[in-house]
Amino acid sequence: MRLDIITCLPELFDGPINQSIVKRAQQKGLVEIHVHNLRDYSTNKHKNVDDYAFGGGAGMVLMIEPIDACISKLKSEREYQEVIYLTPDGETLNQGIANGLSMNENMILLCGHYKGVDQRVRDHFVTREISIGDYVLSGGELAAMVLADSLIRLVPGVLNDESSALTDSFQDNLLAPPVYTRPAEYKGWSVPDVLTSGHEANIEKWRHDEAVKRTQERRPDLLT
Ligand code: ADE
Repeated sequence: MRLDIITCLPELFDGPINQSIVKRAQQKGLVEIHVHNLRDYSTNKHKNVDDYAFGGGAGMVLMIEPIDACISKLKSEREYQEVIYLTPDGETLNQGIANGLSMNENMILLCGHYKGVDQRVRDHFVTREISIGDYVLSGGELAAMVLADSLIRLVPGVLNDESSALTDSFQDNLLAPPVYTRPAEYKGWSVPDVLTSGHEANIEKWRHDEAVKRTQERRPDLLT
């Protein structure tokens, strides 16, 4: 999977894409992440990428020219299945959307800032608009990181234990059951006996029952 992230704040990505699972996915050659600074595509001498909104009002709008220049260059180099714009008015990200998108080979993630991007970018370049929740962030960068992380961990081979992503919360519309590790007894608090019994069928049943119970208690909407 290759992700091309377009942003006017490329430095924000330095930490998240160079740590932990995402870092290892890149080292293993399973994922490529390329961060593009929108300013590098600005043609004006001050390297501006935003301007005032037509009609007035507070807030700057990202201009179409540098975004077009960046997207067009990328598209001339390879085919992209999606150009995703991160925006609070997009469809809300969930595990089903992440699963679907994780099948793609190449995607562009466009991060908005200030008041967003010129509507013509959305009309003519963007194929999908995604929000990470009903709240407003200062820009699309954190949302792009959340989306990227949710996709990368689904790429086969990224997680050490192949089945691990399949047992995540939400994968079968159930929250994940509780987990325990050593010691089996701590300050008198013990691990459920079934988990140390070695009886695999009973363990599976216990996990499923606990997942259903937790989902009923916390997210009954997932069960309907
Ligand atoms: N940009 C600002 N807020 C956002 C959100 N909630 N989701 C995606 N992109 C955003």
